[in-house]
Amino acid sequence: MKYTQSGITTTKDTPNDAEIISHKLMIRSGMIRKLASGLYTWMPLGLRILKKIEKIIRKEMNDANALEILMPAIQPSELWKETGRWEKYGPELLRLSDRHEREFCFGPTHEEIITDIVRNEIKSYKQLPVTFYQIQTKFRDEIRPRFGVMRAREFLMKDAYSFHESEACLNKTYEIMFESYKKIFEKIGFEFKVVDADNGQIGGSESHEFHVIAENGEDELIFSDKSDYAINAELFPKPPKEGDVSPDGTGKVKIKRGIEVGHIFKLGKNYSDAMNATISNKENKNITMTMGCYGIGVSRIAAAAIEQSNDEKGIIWPTSIAPFSINIISIGYSKNEKIKNYSDNLYQKLLSNGIDVLIDDRDVSPGIMFSDSDLIGVPYKLIVGKQYLENNNLEIKERVSDKTFTISESSNSVQADSNTVEAVLKVIFEKNQ
Ligand SMILES: Nc1ncnc2c1ncn2[C@@H]1O[C@H](COP(=O)(O)OP(=O)(O)O)[C@@H](O)[C@H]1O
Ligand SMILES: [Mg+2]
Repeated sequence: MKYTQSGITTTKDTPNDAEIISHKLMIRSGMIRKLASGLYTWMPLGLRILKKIEKIIRKEMNDANALEILMPAIQPSELWKETGRWEKYGPELLRLSDRHEREFCFGPTHEEIITDIVRNEIKSYKQLPVTFYQIQTKFRDEIRPRFGVMRAREFLMKDAYSFHESEACLNKTYEIMFESYKKIFEKIGFEFKVVDADNGQIGGSESHEFHVIAENGEDELIFSDKSDYAINAELFPKPPKEGDVSPDGTGKVKIKRGIEVGHIFKLGKNYSDAMNATISNKENKNITMTMGCYGIGVSRIAAAAIEQSNDEKGIIWPTSIAPFSINIISIGYSKNEKIKNYSDNLYQKLLSNGIDVLIDDRDVSPGIMFSDSDLIGVPYKLIVGKQYLENNNLEIKERVSDKTFTISESSNSVQADSNTVEAVLKVIFEKNQ
């Protein structure tokens, strides 16, 4: 991507409602723009990150044998009346009516819709277990939308739903999903914690939340310094304090704050009973299906990643979801033919080798190129400048460590432990051969 064609518009201004660093940096880097309270447009830069997050999630869901579908955002009230949630859900549910005065809602979640599909499509135990997922826009009329896309009204969720003949089968899928979620958050590169959680509006018997550890997290996580015990503090009427004996009796209580990025539930038969979702079992008897559901806040992940990794200069993306892998900074691009030719050539080469490269082809000062690159958080800068003109050397600067590595024709390796740097070096030295 050429910077002049990238649609990236960075800004120094932060809006008054931006209370936390991720919200500020998403606005400053030009990732998102606000339309109204809790409603955000994902600009070209932001959307690149969202797509990378989706890709990581899709891979793990597909590997876990979940089948991707896409359900409507607008849902008829009849299904919600079947489960009783039309009354129960309250003002978070955005209710609408069409020209025929039929009632609908904009889906905050999709249990009713998927259960309706499955009761129509699945008739026999032979078709089970089955898990469906989608990556789709949800709307919740949050009482206090805040922190930008972190607690928005419209947001992107990956929601999955599994259907089973028995509790034992649900437990197996739940375990698989649990492991998939761990893989997703490990691949992104998060420091995270899994905790026992409240089933809330969704209902059911058991649930776990996946939290990114961050000071600005809205949840308080209680865990033991000795055992695996970990739980959301909201489960206690009066939560224990740091240093108390852990509620499981092993070790002392530790407390950290977290951002909930994933939540999985054993639903049991709550929805399938209410909606009469049955199958015939081996003995040809009609039985109610057992269900699980599994959510990930796709758009929230982008904000959580920034909360976990930033500095005074801007965002520091983990390479897994960075909008670009490397940023060519060509000092004098618009004035020096040699710099321009070399940079353009290298840019094309990196592109054709599948490396996500941004080349700064703007007629601006090096200072602006560096500060914008730091702000949008590209993990590496490849500097073509004075060193190149004088000694044919390039420099690679690592965003997270601020270290600079010189690449000369004689040294085809640098001390950077990174797949990106390795791939880039390979391309550079192929060119010189
Ligand atoms: N208002 C919101 N804005 C952004 N992401 C959200 C919002 N509400 C929920 N999410 C994300 O969707 C995931 C699944 O939602 P769920 O657990 O049903 O919501 P909640 O925890 O609010 O009851 C959450 O773990 C969270 O990451
Ligand atoms: Mg939740």
